[in-house]
Amino acid sequence: MSSSSTLASEISQAQTEALSAIAGALDAAGLRSVQAELAGKKSALTVLRSQLGKIQDAEERKSAGQAIHACAQTIEAAIGERMALLLAGERAQQVASEAMDLSEFVTAKRRGSTHIVTQATQRLEDVFIGLGFQVAEGPEVETDFYNFEALNMPKTHPARSEFDTMFIEPASADQEPNSVLLRTHTSPVQIRVMQSWKPPIYAVMPGRVFRRDTPDATHMPVFHQIEGIVVDKGITFAHLAGIIEAFTKAFFGNEFTSRLRPSFFPFTEPSAEFDIRRANGAWIELGGCGMMHPNVLRAGGIDPDEYTGFAFGFGIDRMAKERHNVEDIREMYTNDLRFLRQFS
Ligand code: PHE
Repeated sequence: MSSSSTLASEISQAQTEALSAIAGALDAAGLRSVQAELAGKKSALTVLRSQLGKIQDAEERKSAGQAIHACAQTIEAAIGERMALLLAGERAQQVASEAMDLSEFVTAKRRGSTHIVTQATQRLEDVFIGLGFQVAEGPEVETDFYNFEALNMPKTHPARSEFDTMFIEPASADQEPNSVLLRTHTSPVQIRVMQSWKPPIYAVMPGRVFRRDTPDATHMPVFHQIEGIVVDKGITFAHLAGIIEAFTKAFFGNEFTSRLRPSFFPFTEPSAEFDIRRANGAWIELGGCGMMHPNVLRAGGIDPDEYTGFAFGFGIDRMAKERHNVEDIREMYTNDLRFLRQFS
């Protein structure tokens, strides 16, 4: 090294070459090998550094060392900057190449809509609100008391076995087995409404119910019912028949009529089954009804000597099925968009 000016130009040349090699690296792997070369024994900077010791003048040696150090820092910064740029580009490319096109089945923008059971429930509520009823709801997980006992079905009552009940496992060892269950009908809400409202009561109570059942064209283990009660002074069976007929016409249309057939339910006396008749003469079974049993009124905290009442309950899914001529009730629950969109 003949003079400091030669050294300075050699450092500047090393830096220029290093920076152009860095700029020329096209990917992170390429840049890494440039980086390794620049730090290696044969790199211009390493060679210059090894020659520092030969400079006699201490001042000169110090400033040469500082110049080499500054050059090394510039190179290092350039590597860092280029590396960040290359990695970001590679990451963006990877994301783009791994992205999945999930839009293949979407042919047009569509709004969702309510399910036909929800639509039927809302229409039912509208019809009954129009008849002066209020809407109430109760829990899906019920106690034996509300689902059976309060409805005039003591522990040994044979009618209990007709409700293929699904029980909830006891939460602790001291909880009586089979005392908590998934409600098998909406009738327990009768009791809850009577306990919390004062007569006169005109209420409908829609909701989900559960029974151990194998799904087929007309049955599902989870389905929907709407319960109705009227508790007032002087309520008779004629009022019940009138409400059923008014509802049938309002919901299905004027060409429909209804009929009541004698039946049995532990919670109503007398009890009836009600059917509706299509314009073509076909009868469709809808649900049960009757005058509320005095024991049921009592369980709801109402004096049966002062008040009488009637109750009815029917399946909403079956009604939606009839209204829309659905062949198989299971179709309503497979969530096939081709089915659902017919009713949007
Ligand atoms: N809870 C009865 C059932 O699920 C229907 C019903 C309700 C009958 C109210 C009479 C009165 O079968």
